[in-house]
Amino acid sequence: MSTSVPADVVRRLRALREEIDTHNYRYHVLDQPSVPDSEYDALFRELLALEAAHPDLVTPDSPSQRVGAAPRADFAAVTHRVPMLSLNNAFGEEDVIAFDRRAREALGVDAIEYATEPKFDGLAISLAYEDGRFAVGATRGDGFTGEDVTANLRTVRAIPLRLADPSPPRLLEVRGEVIMLKRDFEKLNRDQLARGEKIFANPRNAAAGSLRQLDPKVTARRPLTFFAYGIGAVEGAAEHWTKHAELLQYLMRQRFRVAPERRVASGVARLLDYYREIGEQRDRLPYEIDGVVYKVNDLKAQERLGFVARAPRFAIAHKYPAEEAVTEVMDIEVNVGRTGALTPVARLKPVFVGGVTVTNATLHNEDEIRRKDVRIGDQVLVRRAGDVIPEVVSVVRERRPATSRVFVMPALCPVCGSRVERLPDEAVARCTAGLYCPAQRKQALLHFASRRAMDIEGLGEKLVDQLVDRDLVRDPSDLYRLNEATLADLDRMAEKSAANVMAAIEASKNTTLARFIYALGIRNVGEATAKDLAQHFGRLCAMMKAGPAALEQVPDVGPVVAASIASFFSERHNREVIVSLRRRARVKWAKLVGRAIRVGAAHGKTFVLTGTLPHLSREEAQGRIEAAGGKVAGSVSRKTDYVVVGADPGAKYERALALEIPVLDEDGLMALLGDSPSSRQGSSA
Ligand code: IVH
Repeated sequence: MSTSVPADVVRRLRALREEIDTHNYRYHVLDQPSVPDSEYDALFRELLALEAAHPDLVTPDSPSQRVGAAPRADFAAVTHRVPMLSLNNAFGEEDVIAFDRRAREALGVDAIEYATEPKFDGLAISLAYEDGRFAVGATRGDGFTGEDVTANLRTVRAIPLRLADPSPPRLLEVRGEVIMLKRDFEKLNRDQLARGEKIFANPRNAAAGSLRQLDPKVTARRPLTFFAYGIGAVEGAAEHWTKHAELLQYLMRQRFRVAPERRVASGVARLLDYYREIGEQRDRLPYEIDGVVYKVNDLKAQERLGFVARAPRFAIAHKYPAEEAVTEVMDIEVNVGRTGALTPVARLKPVFVGGVTVTNATLHNEDEIRRKDVRIGDQVLVRRAGDVIPEVVSVVRERRPATSRVFVMPALCPVCGSRVERLPDEAVARCTAGLYCPAQRKQALLHFASRRAMDIEGLGEKLVDQLVDRDLVRDPSDLYRLNEATLADLDRMAEKSAANVMAAIEASKNTTLARFIYALGIRNVGEATAKDLAQHFGRLCAMMKAGPAALEQVPDVGPVVAASIASFFSERHNREVIVSLRRRARVKWAKLVGRAIRVGAAHGKTFVLTGTLPHLSREEAQGRIEAAGGKVAGSVSRKTDYVVVGADPGAKYERALALEIPVLDEDGLMALLGDSPSSRQGSSA
């Protein structure tokens, strides 16, 4: 160094880098930002200014050095010091049981302790740290030689540029997966679409495409993250790990992201429990996984078990059913929904995806078909995740046959032949026939009978189809005129099931105002709005008479919803159906004693329930809170007013304490609601 640098500049640089690294860590690894963006930006600007004034003090591990590397012509080859092998797959429980048995026999033990982790669906990466500094990052490649993507990996904020360990190993290869979180993937695709750029089929493709960019500046703009799940070569380490789980702990202390869902489990039964547990959470996890991985926890035992061919004998991947598959669009048909919306549906060559055989997938609307350019005869990528309706994600363009046909939205309703209309600012085309269209009538009846509406068990699609097709039922009030003999006469209806349906219809006459409003199927009035309306008006006639301005007094009801409600009640036919349901069928509900309740202490307050209450079920507690004008939310936040705690409360209780939110037990809740159940509800038809 030719010029001497004041010691305070060196100190300030070090402090700035440490502080920025810590903010990065909190934001990108812990997901707990600690300062506002503006403060972070100010620190970063100060760092850049100091480094510009003292260029010889710039170090490769400075946070300023994450971006800015020049584009490359290609990626250099990197030979892995320890090969990056793959895992054998288990597709069923028998494969896991056999894996465990082989390992137990080889080790001569009765039960094995395993470390269990999610199997990330991204790109395997190896990160070499030399004397604690990130030196080289490479893709897996063929397992022996990968591509040098160091410059791109430096832009990934969840990858530390230096280890926190004050006496780091001379060499440490950290192995893990570069992925894109689901929420980041969705946002990226929205942004790409808005800019008219290519959208990605899934987070894995988006991560791969983003990492294999010759220009690191492009990678820097993509929201990638990294999860560590193991190590490769290690030289000169001060610590000696004996368990895989300890190793992960060490990596966490080095500020890597490690799956929070990891566990230690002994014996094969616990492995299968873990598989189920993670399987249930799969849709809710922030990232995509395609299985779970079981690894023998003891590292010495791992070494003894060794490898066969290119996979370890000490670990196995237990796979979940794939959520995506490619199949052919045999036709595109149009379904007519309850509100007359025409939804194009792809009829598919049957394909096994998401654990079931799928034959239809939604195409949402005309614009979606245009955007994805889906044609009849195309090979398409179909996705079915959890219980979500299967959808066509994208077209495999390379496989488009010359005979493929473009879909045209019909001008007439495919069910009733009425005119189809698409309003200028709507994505949806609708049949204009309303309840004269049998398809809309069927959907309206199914909605009326659905569990959260009038809850008529047994009144399913097959039955409704027949009732409408034979003109036995035209509107919901006709349901209450049916008799057992008529029902028993229909296809697939035995006497017993006819009696059951009749009993369910009879039982549905005792309902609540909120259910009844919801059951009417007013456009834009979902379950929550129906509850708000019932709460606010207390009586159906008051609501029917209300004009748009009065309707907008209800929480969360804006001009659009108010207009839908007013227009629904302005139709004479709708009013007649209601009169008939009330007077002839004698549908009734307990009257809410309106205003008195709304001034109570619970009115407008948000409650969260956790644990088992001594007397009230969760539904009852929720019902009482709502009857008193309160709301029940699923998770605790600063907006929560009260947390109601029963026996064995969950993490919500701890969060309530941490956020200093008032906690109530059941008695406390009842006191707050201010009265006994009987004084709040009187019965009236
Ligand atoms: S351990 C010796 N753990 O799965 C094998 N791999 O088929 C070391 N993967 O290419 C791999 N999540 O990219 C391991 N928690 C996890 C994983 C995981 C995803 C990937 C990895 C590897 C492939 C193996």
